[in-house]
Amino acid sequence: MPAADHTPSPQGAGGGLVSTPELTVVIPCYNERANVAPMVARLDAALAGIAWEAVFVDDDSPDGTADAARAIARADPRVRAIRRIGRRGLASAVIEGALSSSADYVAVIDGDLQHDETRLPDLLAALKSGQADLAVGSRHVEGGSNAGLANGFRHMLSDGGIRLAQFSLPVKLTDPMSGYFMLPRPLFEHLAPRLTGQGFKILLDLLLSSPAPLRVREIPVQFHAREAGESKLDVLVLLQFAGLLADKMLGGILPLRFISFALVGAIGVGVNLAALFVGRAAGLGFGAAQTVATILAMIGNFVLNNAVTYRDQRLRGPRLWRGLILFLAVCSVGAVANIGIARSLFAERLGWTLSGLAGAAIGVVWNYAVSATLVWRTR
Ligand code: GDD
Ligand code: MN
Repeated sequence: MPAADHTPSPQGAGGGLVSTPELTVVIPCYNERANVAPMVARLDAALAGIAWEAVFVDDDSPDGTADAARAIARADPRVRAIRRIGRRGLASAVIEGALSSSADYVAVIDGDLQHDETRLPDLLAALKSGQADLAVGSRHVEGGSNAGLANGFRHMLSDGGIRLAQFSLPVKLTDPMSGYFMLPRPLFEHLAPRLTGQGFKILLDLLLSSPAPLRVREIPVQFHAREAGESKLDVLVLLQFAGLLADKMLGGILPLRFISFALVGAIGVGVNLAALFVGRAAGLGFGAAQTVATILAMIGNFVLNNAVTYRDQRLRGPRLWRGLILFLAVCSVGAVANIGIARSLFAERLGWTLSGLAGAAIGVVWNYAVSATLVWRTR
């Protein structure tokens, strides 16, 4: 889709109050209360002469981030707050904020002041020149820096992710993991229905979702150290990110959640076998050892699915225990179905491997479908 497929808003560079701003800055935030007011002040300084609005998208942070944004919004019509309840996720928060815009351009910037907002006019200029569909604030082009990453481990995560992403990307990009970018709003809307909306990497999701390669312009930015609050990116986010790539490579045939669920199931088989081995070495009989091993594997699967597969609606507190019991019940039925089907196919002389595989496939589909509605309640 061509970048020039949008009409500029009627107002010039005066920055006065007009019905439609030229630029919407989407700011995903979770527990960033202390950063909201400084963010608005910095945008105000950086975007002088541009008609802008800021949309804070908060996932019901316990620290009251949305309240802080709303308090400012009451006095400043350029500021809006979206409070999402019962959901977590950077990518989906960005999508929601961007889809609430009717401006010409949409920018995305972290709410923790780690991205250099003074580069926003450069990103805008790159788009307005018509030479790019997407402008990215990059830490890895000359003049950029990621010195603000918390530690060596974070550097490793970040670099590893970048390699992985570059491998699967249709366009050359030095910093595909950046969370700081801008594009014409109509282009975003065009791509939005194809986005997976999972995890942290909305930029990557956009690039991979475009039917035609996007023309990207990278602008060097500094990545500052965090001043308040803490990072939400961890190893699990990287796992989710691997899932996103897998989903794109498979062309979205299988839902991402199912892939994750099945992979966790495969790990569970490993846990089961290992525990069986230990139980036998400890002198348990086969029946007892296999029972203990199966329960351990199911508990492990529950914990992993809760942390990775259903990260965005993770169960906590009393709901966690209720979920665990339900999960054990669901999987027990799945195991019975698995064995029953494998047995009857075996009786039909289908052979060990095929019978076993068919039983396992039915088991995992059952476990997935039922636990998705019963344990984690997804739509
Ligand atoms: N609404 C919402 N929901 N916002 C979130 C969530 C969420 O579940 N998780 C994180 N955020 C917000 C944070 O409050 C912050 O404003 C921004 O998203 C980035 O999250 P951080 O936790 O600060 O990320 P980071 O500093 O570790 O990661 C940075 O580097 C990555 C590349 O290594 C960010 O710039 C990422 O965007 C970037 O991809
Ligand atoms: Mn950050």
